[in-house]
Amino acid sequence: MKFLVINGPNLNLLGTRDPALYGNLTLEQIENTLRRRAARLKAELEFLQSNSEGTLIDFIQQKAPESSGIIINPGALTHYGYSLRDALADTGLPVVEVHLSNIYAREGWRAHSVMAAVARGQVSGLGWRGYLYALEFLVAQVSRRRRQ
Ligand code: DQA
Repeated sequence: MKFLVINGPNLNLLGTRDPALYGNLTLEQIENTLRRRAARLKAELEFLQSNSEGTLIDFIQQKAPESSGIIINPGALTHYGYSLRDALADTGLPVVEVHLSNIYAREGWRAHSVMAAVARGQVSGLGWRGYLYALEFLVAQVSRRRRQ
């Protein structure tokens, strides 16, 4: 059971980027926490952060065939990244969209996600734990499907 954990533009700056909104943890710390939780859940994770939409799409196209689901924080691409949205939809995999901040409690343009319609669900505003909740959901989904 392998999942992709993808972070988009500017999320490489976590830790120093507006901590009041995005928290104090670096992306590496979040990824390490996820790795530990995944090991307990007997899941494997593969991570990518990129500031470029094309690199995110190449990774999704390459890795989706051997994956069971995708956790993605698309950064600002959330709001206008149609190519990324299509790439996610084309995988046919369950996708969980994660946002550290509550995108509905900020500027109006952030309240619209072009990813939401192709995601199974969204976690927004629960900080780094949102990634953990997304992982737990996907593991439960895939395990249930395997038991059926
Ligand atoms: C974000 C919210 C986006 O609006 C913003 O552009 C980000 C981070 C979040 O995690 O809260 O880069 O996805």
